[in-house]
Amino acid sequence: MKISPKVKLILCIFSIFSSSTSTNAFLHFFPNISSIPPSLLPNTTKSAWNTFTNLSGCHSGQNVAGISKLKSYFRYFGYISNNINTTSKNNFTDEFDDALERAVLNYQKNFNLNTTGELDEETVKQILKPRCGVADIVNGSTTMNSGKVTPPPSNGNTVAHYSFFPGRPRWPSRRRDLTYAFDPRNQLSADVKRVFANAFSRWSEWTPLTFTESGNYFTADMKIGFYAGEHGDGEEFDGVLGTLAHAFAPPRGLLHLDSDETWIVGEISGSGTGAEMDLESVAVHEIGHLLGLGHSSVENAIMFPTIASGMRKVELDRDDVEGIQELYGSNPGNNGTTGPSFGEREVSRGCRDSFMGWILLLAVGLTLFVL
Ligand SMILES: *[C@@H]1O[C@H](CO)[C@@H](O)[C@H](O)[C@H]1NC(C)=O
Ligand SMILES: *[C@@H]1O[C@H](CO)[C@@H](O)[C@H](O)[C@H]1NC(C)=O
Ligand SMILES: *[C@@H]1O[C@H](CO)[C@@H](O)[C@H](O)[C@H]1NC(C)=O
Ligand SMILES: *[C@@H]1O[C@H](CO)[C@@H](O)[C@H](O)[C@H]1NC(C)=O
Ligand SMILES: *[C@@H]1O[C@H](CO)[C@@H](O)[C@H](O)[C@H]1NC(C)=O
Ligand SMILES: *[C@@H]1O[C@H](CO)[C@@H](O)[C@H](O)[C@H]1NC(C)=O
Ligand SMILES: *[C@@H]1O[C@H](CO)[C@@H](O)[C@H](O)[C@H]1NC(C)=O
Ligand SMILES: *[C@@H]1O[C@H](CO)[C@@H](O)[C@H](O)[C@H]1NC(C)=O
Ligand SMILES: [Zn+2]
Ligand SMILES: [Zn+2]
Repeated sequence: MKISPKVKLILCIFSIFSSSTSTNAFLHFFPNISSIPPSLLPNTTKSAWNTFTNLSGCHSGQNVAGISKLKSYFRYFGYISNNINTTSKNNFTDEFDDALERAVLNYQKNFNLNTTGELDEETVKQILKPRCGVADIVNGSTTMNSGKVTPPPSNGNTVAHYSFFPGRPRWPSRRRDLTYAFDPRNQLSADVKRVFANAFSRWSEWTPLTFTESGNYFTADMKIGFYAGEHGDGEEFDGVLGTLAHAFAPPRGLLHLDSDETWIVGEISGSGTGAEMDLESVAVHEIGHLLGLGHSSVENAIMFPTIASGMRKVELDRDDVEGIQELYGSNPGNNGTTGPSFGEREVSRGCRDSFMGWILLLAVGLTLFVL
């Protein structure tokens, strides 16, 4: 293949980019929990948000050390506006002010908690869970519960809670056969790649979309990679637990996973330390973002922002199917919404809760990749 000057330029920029970020120094993939050597068990007390445990019981008007960090957390996930004053965005005070109380109330609505506006035990427990880095509220708008006029019914399946990114970005109608590729620097094994193939098939089952692995990372529609810490898009990962992964809305097509997590590639059952994450479960969620779905308040939905450590949740919920079919229509080879997937959800071991978090990434630099 002849390489054009334009491609050479991109390759050059890419190599500069890659040398300035910490990539896959060490990837933690294990076939099952019992195969993790004790020396590599992560220390969950070092998880990113552990300090929030001390904020249990805090309420409006108080001034407590650590509140400022919690405000940064809420800003990150869209609950506190981040465009009021960008120069002071990380300079929060430790005062439990009105903005924080509003954030807590919206958070409680989105996660089906009692709307007390205080950091009660249940709320703090939820905040501590590792999660997808994509914001729940993008640019002030959400269709999770806090964006609904009427209170959610206790049975989440009776009302749609799925959401889209602002402006409803999706892959254009002439693009139904999409490609994906893995960052070659990760040198992923066939087992790991198979997990993503399975994850993509969960979505193609219900839509007219098809997904094919491409060997060309630069031209693929969707690019998948594992990274640690800051990795070039301004949305840094935070080590063990905390945020687990994030992905961009169409047509960016970037799916990033935190390489500091302990990823289980095969059978997840068994008792671990509470830090093992099922790779396919997280992948299915992130692919939902790649296709244009935001977060859902339906706890059983793939697009709920969190998943328990050690839990396997890979089958789409009715809420996910309704959301994705609103964007792309149904799979002509698959009838309606009563397929086997709704009946026999594959869920194992719900030991400790963890969150899948996702981040909407807006970094300008990476637009070069999308040429
Ligand atoms: C875990 O994986 C290892 C390595 O593949 C295998 O030998 C072992 O039998 C597995 N254990 C369980 C409980 O599946
Ligand atoms: C985990 O980290 C904490 C804080 O750094 C430390 O006190 C504790 O001994 C560590 N536990 C293990 C099992 O390494
Ligand atoms: C929580 O508060 C206790 C007592 O005030 C303090 O000793 C401890 O270091 C705090 N823990 C964290 C994680 O901030
Ligand atoms: C933003 O914050 C900085 C530092 O706190 C301050 O100097 C500046 O005046 C603020 N700008 C606005 C528009 O509030
Ligand atoms: C943060 O805010 C405080 C009080 O509002 C101010 O004194 C301090 O200089 C600010 N720090 C930065 C780095 O902006
Ligand atoms: C909400 O409040 C009720 C009544 O106080 C309590 O029984 C219930 O456990 C609370 N639910 C949550 C999620 O905190
Ligand atoms: C956010 O909202 C503002 C004002 O409504 C709009 O101009 C801007 O394009 C929006 N940004 C995104 C990313 O949707
Ligand atoms: C879809 O439904 C129709 C009528 O209910 C049935 O004839 C057809 O075989 C079904 N197709 C598939 C792929 O299940
Ligand atoms: Zn990223
Ligand atoms: Zn997400």
